[in-house]
Amino acid sequence: MRMIDLIVKKREGLALSGEEIEYIIGGFTRGEIPDYQVSAWLMAVVLKGMEEREITDLTLAMAHSGQTLDLKPVAPFVVDKHSSGGVGDKTTLVVAPLVAAAGLPVAKMTGRGLGFSGGTLDKLESIPGFNVNLTKAEFLENLARHGIVVAGQSADLAPADGKLYALRDVTGTVESIPLIASSIMSKKIAAGADAIVLDVKVGRGAFMKTLEEAEALAQTMVKIGRGVGRRVTAVISDMSQPLGYAVGNALEVKEAIATLQGSGPADFTALCLAVAGQMVLLAGKCATAEETEGVLQELLASGKALDKFREFVRAQGGDAGVVEHPELMAQARYVDTVTAPQSGYLAGINAQMFGLTAVTLGGGRAKKGETIDHGVGMVLQHKVGDRVEQGEAVVEVHANDRGKLLEAKANLSSALSWSRQPVKRPALVHGILGGGKPPGGCS
Ligand code: URA
Repeated sequence: MRMIDLIVKKREGLALSGEEIEYIIGGFTRGEIPDYQVSAWLMAVVLKGMEEREITDLTLAMAHSGQTLDLKPVAPFVVDKHSSGGVGDKTTLVVAPLVAAAGLPVAKMTGRGLGFSGGTLDKLESIPGFNVNLTKAEFLENLARHGIVVAGQSADLAPADGKLYALRDVTGTVESIPLIASSIMSKKIAAGADAIVLDVKVGRGAFMKTLEEAEALAQTMVKIGRGVGRRVTAVISDMSQPLGYAVGNALEVKEAIATLQGSGPADFTALCLAVAGQMVLLAGKCATAEETEGVLQELLASGKALDKFREFVRAQGGDAGVVEHPELMAQARYVDTVTAPQSGYLAGINAQMFGLTAVTLGGGRAKKGETIDHGVGMVLQHKVGDRVEQGEAVVEVHANDRGKLLEAKANLSSALSWSRQPVKRPALVHGILGGGKPPGGCS
């Protein structure tokens, strides 16, 4: 088999066989097929798509590119969640400790920033000392001891996704249902969780811009997961504006901590409760959404979820002092504001522009393997639907370079739209696909 023939075959819109897909994934993982050929093939997939059978073959080849985990000896039932990528999406930082505090073991394999969307690994690495590179043995040990573990792909676990993900990030090959579905589901399959809640984002700050696309992605992933015997639910959630107020690695960790302390943004807190609620329901721990929400609210109010966050951070080598002292994380040198040009209602916040601006400030990568600046980003002071007076601050910009700060302010200013009439706030959850069949009562 020759890689060039497979690139051409996909370029011509033909379906690849399971053997051909295995050849590409195996060869790339072992370093035998170079980045430039895989980049060309990825672009052909973006442009020509894949059949359902090809997506499943790709997912399984990626999932088995390293070892897969059997979590049963460590925890009888493990839950996981995954977002399809968005701007200001720090949900895992709250949901994982919250669900773990409810007594459900959480094991998650996650990724770095991708295109304009942030990544949980980069956010976690804002915490001094935090280690996301766990071996299989360490992953299992943390799960057994603490009931919570979040790590990246390693040489042991789904290495193909780690390599493909880094390449897609810098080659314009992110926005593709086959590539996103296989990337997400290969990690989920390799990491071994029994139940998975997928948070599929839709809108300008997501890779899926329309509800139809988001539903198609959700259905593809639910089908793959169920095909390998996992319980899967997909929440389709809004990404027409950034989630919460903060965009940027350390700034988002700070906002996640505030949310665990009960003082997070309303939209972000509501989404965390919705996703965590689906995880609890899918695991069969509670019977109804109301019961589940009551349990989760109590874990937030009592500080138990925050305690779990501290335990999780310490367990992976991080400094849990960031809870009381977020200034232990990187902070940008310059902070300036974008103000309202007129009085009126904030009608739109172009989330993609916010994500791209975070990348150009240094919070994401333009080239593979680039180091990033954890301190930069933005903090919104208002969300869509808010009434704002002329001259009031709308966005706080955190930068380490004066030139980039000015450029960011101009871009962010053009990313805001205004109305003289009141504006409806966007719905947060657009739909839920699947869902568990829980027994009665909370166990
Ligand atoms: N999250 C992933 O893990 N992979 C993608 O391709 C997009 C979001």
